[in-house]
Amino acid sequence: MDDSLEEIVREIRSCRKCSLWITKKNYVPGEGSENAGIMFIGEAPGKEEDEQGRPFVGNAGKFLTALIEKSLGLRREDVYITNILKCRPPNNRDPDDEEIDACFPYLERQISVIKPEIIACLGRHSARTVFEHFGIPFTTISRERGLMREKIVDGKVIRFIATYHPAAALYKPPLKETIEEDFKKLRNFVKKKNPTLLDFFS
Ligand code: URA
Repeated sequence: MDDSLEEIVREIRSCRKCSLWITKKNYVPGEGSENAGIMFIGEAPGKEEDEQGRPFVGNAGKFLTALIEKSLGLRREDVYITNILKCRPPNNRDPDDEEIDACFPYLERQISVIKPEIIACLGRHSARTVFEHFGIPFTTISRERGLMREKIVDGKVIRFIATYHPAAALYKPPLKETIEEDFKKLRNFVKKKNPTLLDFFS
């Protein structure tokens, strides 16, 4: 049977593969369009996301939504937004390796179903996990941000970009401009039907 976003969400909602299901209030599988050209991948749900069962709906989410709408000229429902972890770690602590390993197959399946042209990783945990999974070397977020990488996945080019986590701009305001700059680069890809890497630098 072909996989589907509904099936993945259904499985996430009964997941007990790591202990986070015990402390979470709601699973946060992800949301958006099955036909999304861009997938945004954050780290893990925070307090607000845990309350609502939806990704990026707190303050960092408001900034992300504004970037999607104003910098990319898209609607939130046109893209797909999810996280590496589908449950909130207590007190928003960093995800641990066991949790990432347990949860990552859901993200892998979401990527296989959506087949996005671009995967945008938000923050170092997301970027490190996703880049390493796809065989893209990752050093630090400050070095890797804003660079577009290409990989052929299942016979199709996927472009990967990392930027700082939108929450980082809330406590370090100068990062806001850096994130906006990275989104401006993304816009060149969103506008064109068949973009090449050269468009990224135009
Ligand atoms: N931070 C994340 O990484 N993901 C969310 O969904 C919200 C905040």
